[in-house]
Amino acid sequence: MRTAARVHEIAPFHVMEVQTAARALEAAGRSVIHMEIGEPDFPTPQPVLAAAHAAIADGGVYYTSALGIPELRQAIATYYRDRYGVSVAAERIIVTAGSSAALLLTLALLVNRDEQILLADPGYPCNRHFVRTLEGEAVGLPVGPESNYQLTAELIDRAWTSRTRGALIASPSNPTGTSVRFGEMRRIVDAVEANGGRLIVDEIYLGLSYAEPPRSALELSHDIFVISSFSKYFNMTGWRLGWLVAPERHVRDIEKLAQNLYISPATLSQRAALACFKPETLAILEERRREFLTRRDFLVPALRALGFGIPVTPTGGFFVYADCTPFGMDSERFCVEALMATGVAATPGVDFGRYRAEAHMRFAYTVALPKLEEGVRRLAAWLPTLT
Ligand SMILES: Cc1ncc(COP(=O)(O)O)c(C=O)c1O
Repeated sequence: MRTAARVHEIAPFHVMEVQTAARALEAAGRSVIHMEIGEPDFPTPQPVLAAAHAAIADGGVYYTSALGIPELRQAIATYYRDRYGVSVAAERIIVTAGSSAALLLTLALLVNRDEQILLADPGYPCNRHFVRTLEGEAVGLPVGPESNYQLTAELIDRAWTSRTRGALIASPSNPTGTSVRFGEMRRIVDAVEANGGRLIVDEIYLGLSYAEPPRSALELSHDIFVISSFSKYFNMTGWRLGWLVAPERHVRDIEKLAQNLYISPATLSQRAALACFKPETLAILEERRREFLTRRDFLVPALRALGFGIPVTPTGGFFVYADCTPFGMDSERFCVEALMATGVAATPGVDFGRYRAEAHMRFAYTVALPKLEEGVRRLAAWLPTLT
């Protein structure tokens, strides 16, 4: 049976192969340290679970507006004011089925067939697949440590063509955990605008920032699209809830797309998420953020001491993007051999793009500190056997 060409151009996650191999090892009784997983290990905070139970008991779980329930849109607007000092009208906030749906809706709004979106390579792989699904062209621009593994205004200017519709940035980034400096973000906003395009900024890891207080790109412009999520900072991956802040004049078109693509975001998840903004929930989340910071502060120097190249210290999210070329094999082989020899699972760079992908791998510190320490001990015992 013939299937559409787009399907053949969408790559599977290579990390799934690592995960399958890791599960097979575990089934055979081996202990595996899962540093390949891109979601927080912390459970959904208790007040959120309590709100979900109350919503179930109450029984009012019907479709909502495609834009989300007004109370949640307002709560997110208030959160932007309190946490980031930016004023955003609740009417511009669209609650979505994970930030995945926010990315898809934004790209569906902007991209026509053969039009281009500029992205960082390495970057979050689904973005290029979203663009491909929409018959557009994702243009991955090679980025390295010199730009914090992020796009710059200059790179965007140089790559811009008559077919370019916009640029998409994730700050902090998956897989590198690095951010765009705010001065550079300002130049990027200006560059995209000067080229007549649209900027999409994925801030889903912004709540998990460890350097200076995080700043939202919404400070710079109300004419950009900002994506966020309940998945990462709020520890709610499986609830499938995110949001999009859009320029006001586009809200109606995005609503039409959301209505047709999935009707509404999950009602139960929205009602549960209202509890995210309670002081007691935010206190839990801040404690967890500090725990992620403790893990990062252990893992980054430990990996460097083992010989991995980590030229830029990650300042957000829960990822470390490490160069494994000192160990004499490409990252895909390295990940498989490390798993087999030590039980440490990590993700090969090939999942995140093409540029120097074979030299890099991603470690996630989404496991407790003692496990990270054990993982480093095992790698320390194994690596010397390679030379
Ligand atoms: C950079 C980035 N954006 C978006 C997403 C999608 O997350 P979700 O749909 O759970 O909000 C992810 C998930 O890993 C991500 O890493």
